[in-house]
Amino acid sequence: MSEPTRIGDPQPLTLPSIRPSVTRRSVLGGALGGLLGTGLLSGCTTTPHRDGHGLGPTFGPPTPTSPAPGQRVVERTLTPQVATVDLGGPTVSTWVFGDTVPGPLIRATAGDFLRIRVDNQLPAPTTVHWHGIRLRNPADGVPGLTQDPIGQNASYTYEFTVPDPGTYWFHPHVGVQLDRGLYGALVVDDPREPGGYDAEWVVVIDDWLDGLGRTPDDVLAGLIAGGHTMGGMGGHSMGGHTMGGPGGMGGMGMDEQGMPAEGMGGDVTYPHFLINGRVPAAPSTFTAKPGQRVRIRVLNAASDTIFALALGGHRLTVTHSDGYAVVPHEIGALLIGMGERYDLVVTLGDGIFPLVAKPYGKAGQALALVRTGSGSAPGADALPAELDGPAMRARELVPAEASRLPAREADVTLPYHMAGGMGSYTWTINGAAYGENAPLLVSAGQRARLSITNQTMMAHPVHLHGHTFAVTGSGLRKDTLVVPPMGSTAIEFQADNPGRWMSHCHNTYHAEAGMMIELAYRT
Ligand code: C2O
Ligand code: CU
Repeated sequence: MSEPTRIGDPQPLTLPSIRPSVTRRSVLGGALGGLLGTGLLSGCTTTPHRDGHGLGPTFGPPTPTSPAPGQRVVERTLTPQVATVDLGGPTVSTWVFGDTVPGPLIRATAGDFLRIRVDNQLPAPTTVHWHGIRLRNPADGVPGLTQDPIGQNASYTYEFTVPDPGTYWFHPHVGVQLDRGLYGALVVDDPREPGGYDAEWVVVIDDWLDGLGRTPDDVLAGLIAGGHTMGGMGGHSMGGHTMGGPGGMGGMGMDEQGMPAEGMGGDVTYPHFLINGRVPAAPSTFTAKPGQRVRIRVLNAASDTIFALALGGHRLTVTHSDGYAVVPHEIGALLIGMGERYDLVVTLGDGIFPLVAKPYGKAGQALALVRTGSGSAPGADALPAELDGPAMRARELVPAEASRLPAREADVTLPYHMAGGMGSYTWTINGAAYGENAPLLVSAGQRARLSITNQTMMAHPVHLHGHTFAVTGSGLRKDTLVVPPMGSTAIEFQADNPGRWMSHCHNTYHAEAGMMIELAYRT
């Protein structure tokens, strides 16, 4: 297969890449573990559904499908397992795909058929969700909706076509496993794209705590025991919560009242922030030559942290949001919520530059280095001046013509009200936690609108599986949209992919504490 020319790929440590190989169809084993017993924190799998779905059905082995004649097949195996990982100083025992954080980069071309076998070596059931891909429902990786969780020592094979080019990713959809090291980037190349850049880098940002005394399950248990929905209405406890911290809200932007425009910084304090699995003291380094044009694919894989991202001494041109082309937009810094992706193009200067992701409303930062020349490397706490200015929000972007949904009146408008429970760590959509809220119902062929309100003091990244939506007004195509505190917006999508789909806040703790809802098709 032909690969775009890439100069200055990240060093192997930075992000391991597994190149796709073209294979013939092969028969895959898939002894399917029975499983269950995911523990009290796997609301996804154990919450009884209003109509009884949570108690069944069981799904059995993966729903097989076949590539079309002539369709290229990309085969991979992912092995979620416990491993010891060096984050560039802190060495942690954690849960990863393979033995690195992030997991292996999966690369394909739009139209390819992916066959990905997951061998679960974790001490718990798991699944893999393919975030942002408009795939067939049975391959979506949501336990209780599209499959049974993959039991310990069991295997499961996901088979689906990747229809659209773009920057995507994968992660488990069980409990708070995502806040361990279980995530990886999935890049789908556009066979028609001219390219026009000299190098391409994948930059994955994360907030890290696993293996340093607390697990994500401990953290969720603590939040539930603490009983605060920090950003919820009436629940403004700041106990144990780091607001601002050194560096303050630099670059984050304030609203008219002088409140940070994105509200509170999250529910969880993290000891580390990572770019491509490295702490700032021992950063990932990207190398290139001065004057080269680089495409940077940025993914926020964090569980509880929005970041402002900037490259010291450079302007960045945003070219894609969640895989979809936008009218190129030049910025100094951008805000990226959990689950979001942005593709950027930059022309590099001469020297060594800090690429910094500053956690919104929290102390610390993630850092990588871009090296095109000599000089002394910026320190671990280097703060690009670009972060002093306002960071771009998605609402400033305009979709490229080719990314627009064809104009059409909505056939149905459904409410999507996000709130925080009072007096308990519960997050809700439409007045109830997942399992107690009624599914959003559409019929195949409809143009559906979700009328979203955020009745809390925190920003929530709203994610919809299986579809990409257009933000009402701008028409920006996305699959994950940060809805600011007390904000409202609407999104529209074509109901063209029947099945049972999840929609939820991409804060892992919020989702697990109830901020999820099913999107179902009438049959
Ligand atoms: Cu990336 Cu349901 O999530
Ligand atoms: Cu949320």
